[in-house]
Amino acid sequence: MNPINHVAIIMDGNGRWGLKHKKSRNAGHKAGLNTVEKIIKETIKQKIKFLTLYAFSTENWKRPKREINYLFNLLENFLINKIEELNKQNIKLKIIGIKKFTKKLNKLLIHSEKKTFKNKRLQINLALNYGSKYELVNAFRCLSKNKEKINENSISKYLLTNDTPDPDLLIRTGNTKRLSNFLLWQLAYSEIFFERKLWPDFNDKDYNKIIKKFKNTKRNFGKI
Ligand code: IPE
Ligand code: IPE
Ligand code: MG
Repeated sequence: MNPINHVAIIMDGNGRWGLKHKKSRNAGHKAGLNTVEKIIKETIKQKIKFLTLYAFSTENWKRPKREINYLFNLLENFLINKIEELNKQNIKLKIIGIKKFTKKLNKLLIHSEKKTFKNKRLQINLALNYGSKYELVNAFRCLSKNKEKINENSISKYLLTNDTPDPDLLIRTGNTKRLSNFLLWQLAYSEIFFERKLWPDFNDKDYNKIIKKFKNTKRNFGKI
């Protein structure tokens, strides 16, 4: 059985869910938050140490302002209401992405990271204004500036995930088969599961099914 250290998730399908059920994309984002809580709980139960959640990509700025504002408002309220509980549960929150938001959100993110920094049970990497190509370009720039040798270790060291092992599995909900600029380097050998359900409909049972399948997959890493 394969051990699992790190699960990465592209939480896709909120907008479609919202339109279908409540005639508003934003309602889907709100409903998606409940799934986030369920999946965090189950990740702890499964004793998985790292969970990376794709919440907002560098490309998502192309969406209407109203939707973007709604999303960041949701996140602000989530952090204000839940950070104490996450901390109590010994969860560490780390933001991966370019931290260029409103002053209020920047402050809240830094506060949440600092507060939970020493926690050990589960690390949640929240990918926010994250783009894998940007992350790689930034790593190469740092290497060149510091005149460091270029190899796999040195590149990994300058990625935003430098304290996290590569994902064992990637899940993308929402019935779309693409990576959308997520963890291109880190996913080199991950098992990939594309899930038909939209993110707000995804639940712990679905999650466990995927985990079970993953555990029984023969991982070769080039060997036979
Ligand atoms: C994913 O859901 C969440 C974010 C990108 C913030 P979408 O909003 O992309 O939902 P669909 O794919 O349009 O249904
Ligand atoms: C990927 O979903 C980003 C997040 C889930 C945050 P998108 O819905 O933005 O991806 P594309 O644009 O359909 O590829
Ligand atoms: Mg989408």
